[in-house]
Amino acid sequence: MADDTGLIGKPAVRIDGVAKVTGEARYASDEPVPNPAFAFLVTSPIASGRVRSIDQTAARAVPGVLDILTHENVAGEITPPKAPDQGKTTTTLESDKVWHDGQIVAVVVAETFEGAREAAHRINIAYDVQPPAASFDSPGAQEEPRKLGPEKKDPVKGDFATAFAAAPVKIDARYATPTQHHNPIELFTTTCVWDGPKLTVYEPTQTMYGLKAGVAKQLGLDPANVRTVSRYVGGAFGSKGMLTSRTAWIAIAARRLKRPVKLVATRDQGFTIATYRAETRHHLQLGATPDGRLTALRHEGWEVTSRPSGYNVGGTDTTARMYACPNVATKVNIVHADRNTPGFMRAPPDTPYMFALESAMDELSYALNLDPIELRRINDTQTDPIDGKPFSSRSLMKCFDQAAARFGWAKRNPKPGSMRDGDWLIGYGCATACYPSNIGPAAARLSLTPRGKAVIQLAAHEIGTGAYTTIAITVADRLGLKLEDVKVVLGDSDLPPVPVAGGSNNAASTAHVAAKACEEIRAKLAAAAVAANDTPFAGLDPATLKVTAAGLVGPGGKREPLDKAMARVSGGPLEVHVENAPEGLKPGALAGLYQGQADMVRGTARKDVTAFAFGAQLVEVRVHARTCEVRAPRVVSAFAAGTIVNPLTAYSQFMGGATWGLSSALHEATEVDPRTARYVNDNLADYLVPVNADVGSLEVIMVPEEDNRVNPMGIKGIGEIGIVGMNAAVANAVYHATGRRIRELPIRIEKLL
Ligand code: MOS
Repeated sequence: MADDTGLIGKPAVRIDGVAKVTGEARYASDEPVPNPAFAFLVTSPIASGRVRSIDQTAARAVPGVLDILTHENVAGEITPPKAPDQGKTTTTLESDKVWHDGQIVAVVVAETFEGAREAAHRINIAYDVQPPAASFDSPGAQEEPRKLGPEKKDPVKGDFATAFAAAPVKIDARYATPTQHHNPIELFTTTCVWDGPKLTVYEPTQTMYGLKAGVAKQLGLDPANVRTVSRYVGGAFGSKGMLTSRTAWIAIAARRLKRPVKLVATRDQGFTIATYRAETRHHLQLGATPDGRLTALRHEGWEVTSRPSGYNVGGTDTTARMYACPNVATKVNIVHADRNTPGFMRAPPDTPYMFALESAMDELSYALNLDPIELRRINDTQTDPIDGKPFSSRSLMKCFDQAAARFGWAKRNPKPGSMRDGDWLIGYGCATACYPSNIGPAAARLSLTPRGKAVIQLAAHEIGTGAYTTIAITVADRLGLKLEDVKVVLGDSDLPPVPVAGGSNNAASTAHVAAKACEEIRAKLAAAAVAANDTPFAGLDPATLKVTAAGLVGPGGKREPLDKAMARVSGGPLEVHVENAPEGLKPGALAGLYQGQADMVRGTARKDVTAFAFGAQLVEVRVHARTCEVRAPRVVSAFAAGTIVNPLTAYSQFMGGATWGLSSALHEATEVDPRTARYVNDNLADYLVPVNADVGSLEVIMVPEEDNRVNPMGIKGIGEIGIVGMNAAVANAVYHATGRRIRELPIRIEKLL
């Protein structure tokens, strides 16, 4: 728990900030390697069919071309990668089959990037084209219910059909969200270097050990011979959370050439060689009593995926648990199309599914003539409505109340279209935000010198969230050191493993293992001190001793210099290697961590409690009465997420989440050409994202919350929750401003005209 004397919960600037702004921080493609050759990808211009023939003549004639890899010369060298759900996915280069637009069909390697690029454009490839299915409603798209593993069930409770039929007030509506792409500023890169049988892969990743294990498996290598390095990641958001097909191809290219090979894929290639947020559809049915109590809730979702993959996000696990309701039914369907396989993108299930639920709740508030915040209060609960377990803590209404006070929600006239400033129609909208609290096993190595300097090493990930700093804060807090006396080394699979930096588990998983390592050092020093007779601590309970920069400290101000206490247990620095397995972890999960698996204790699947962070997001929109231009001048978000390790970087996460939420609601969509199943706006000029002028005032309130049930340090995680309520809050505000209910994102002018 944070306390007044400790560093946990105090704002701290990033310890890696200077390295980042001076260029000293090495992103994967910045790593110097001797005499690299450069790769350029050739990608398919068709979405379905086969490669009929490849003519390399013109490409081979480009000066400096070293090699061209295609299915004709490398098929059989790899085991295809798996989809994010560990099932089948689209594969590249193993055969002549084209699964989707932008599939890698060849890799050119040359002395220079420019040479590789020119040769790539000179390869002549003929295709046999099949008519592709682009998305929902396309001829040839195949719908089926998602398949669930043996341990997983669709959330269901009571008797929805009877309750809905009898409900005095009902909402029955359909919603939709578009394809979206993460577009991290750092592109998708891979650099491979061989040293005899040993392969080093420099690639930006959220999963050091997952990448290591995955590459080893694909290439049939002993994992001990594969090292992955990714010290800084320039944005990921889920897009760098799993192995994709390019990595093995660059490794093979480097092996064939006996020389390091470097790939920096282009922005447009990133749309098809990595993953994305698939388009979704939703059918929501809500039944309520006239005083606003929910009696029936049904949520059915549909998600697009690739031909072979069953990947889905299945956000009904969240929406079924949001409000007290005795009768709940849910179902999730997938629709196979000729597309690349989708994957994780910030709050993958919650962002699209909560748009549907929170829009429907807003519709219900008007049907009941109730304030939308009051409707949420009436249906608030401290008990998971599906499992009957308590929430570990749930401060949802505190978030609404603090956000509403700051926002001035009381000034809202409930009648749609009633608030106006000249030509601008004003709307106030709100929605619930939430994200399950997950924690994984982790390992770390910590050393402390007799002069009070600590070094902690673990294969954790800095994806922009501030991981170096939260880990340093934890160690400094627990060992009583100054922040600058803690060195943090991350991003290398030669270090002890941590899970994928996804599912907002990073802060909790790494803080707990760091704290455990500190405790091990303290316990060793304390045990030796109380057993010795040359100390003021002889015979004391070792639990009463603390490590600080000034030395070992005991009750009544007793103290011994650190170097003296340490000399008793070590000839120099004291090093410990610890593993932390959080309570509730499945057997074998810790061993699996070393194999690149990411079994975590999930907030929605615990035996004792259901664990979520909650928040409230309130938005003011202004819609021009004549042009229907939508502006969002004001956002107030409040979040309660347990212990906040570093409020400064947490603020950035929350603010970034809310900004992305505005983007998702008003701007973003990857357009899919229905005839060719190709992405049309695959660049940052045409893929709309907000600029400063699109984001007015954006306030974040961090509601204090102590939760000793979620995990020992009370950390819920904050990486994803910031985006979750925004889609609905904006749509609800647009309805309040105009009386127009937009159920399909993004909300652009043409939908309001
Ligand atoms: Mo996050 S979308 O779980 O990387």
